[in-house]
Amino acid sequence: MMTMHKAYITAVGTYLPEKILSNLDLEKLVDTSDEWIISRTGMRERHIARDDEFTSDMGANAARVALDRAGMKVDDIDVIIVATLSPDYAFPSTACLIQSTLGAKNAAAFDIQAACTGMVYAMAVAKSFIESGMYKNILIVASEKLSSITDYQDRNTCILFGDGAAACIVQGEGPGLEIGKVSLGADGDQSTLLLLPAGGCRNPATKETVEKRMHYLKMDGKEIFRHAVRRMESAAIECIHQSGLKETDIAYLVPHQANLRIIDAIAKRCKIDDDRVIKVVELYGNTSASSIGLALEKLVVENRIKDKDHLLLVAFGAGLTWGSLILTARGDFTL
Ligand code: ACO
Repeated sequence: MMTMHKAYITAVGTYLPEKILSNLDLEKLVDTSDEWIISRTGMRERHIARDDEFTSDMGANAARVALDRAGMKVDDIDVIIVATLSPDYAFPSTACLIQSTLGAKNAAAFDIQAACTGMVYAMAVAKSFIESGMYKNILIVASEKLSSITDYQDRNTCILFGDGAAACIVQGEGPGLEIGKVSLGADGDQSTLLLLPAGGCRNPATKETVEKRMHYLKMDGKEIFRHAVRRMESAAIECIHQSGLKETDIAYLVPHQANLRIIDAIAKRCKIDDDRVIKVVELYGNTSASSIGLALEKLVVENRIKDKDHLLLVAFGAGLTWGSLILTARGDFTL
């Protein structure tokens, strides 16, 4: 009879670059104000990588913290999955660069591109690898240098984004956070609402694409907001109910950190009290794929998770993509 293995997140780690870009700094770049940014987004500051610090560097730093906390040797990593929309190169993958930086010579390596939902998609893939028995020790890294694709002349977008990385170790044995029910979705019909227009084969780099600032991300904020609330709510509710749980069974909501108003709307719709909602958007801004990992680490570091607690993760991003999953604490899950 085939044995079904279970997948557990056994450690998390993060890395944030030192430099901070505050709302007051942004006031000097574009026509905006601290008050406008706080009231519309809940953001006060975000971290920005150095010119010589890249997505793979930040990802490797977060990975080292997670490996250390898991007490795992680099040689034991079977596969590295990286979630990013701001890779060092179009190819090779950022996962291969991180494999090289860490010296993880026994690991397979590949990237996932699901924008801000990338880490949730990566957790779903890791769960399948573990449950099928294909791999035992998986390193997931989410890392973004969004400052490299943000137009600091566009006040509609430049106030939102920050840089940073998060990592987690997924293994076939606990104690840890068991990855339970997963709900993923996508709607490519809405792909133009948030995209990086140039640099791919459709609009290769030319003098014209650079002059038209097409190598910076473009977003229809209002429409994205509307879709984000609707999609995250339905993914979260579907995940809760398909797990046989009720909204009141959720100990913590760990949402993608795109905007405080979006987070509050999801929490309200999922009937989760404010003190059980994990928020890091105020200090980190929107770090795309990394944001849910940064929020999860905050919860873990604060030692608030108790045995059998159910955590609800929910994310939304370009694509459009969305996803939700339930993590259940098994055993004494501390660092
Ligand atoms: N400072 C001051 N005024 C501004 C700024 C700014 N930084 N940005 C826009 N405005 C102005 C607009 O020009 C507009 O002026 P107008 O009425 O004269 O035209 C006014 O403020 C209102 O603009 P709205 O777009 O209606 O503002 P809104 O309340 O929708 O907030 C925001 C904008 C914050 C971008 C919001 O729409 C949002 O958060 N959207 C979702 C963003 C998101 O989640 N993105 C990422 C998801 S996927 C991923 O994470 C990669």
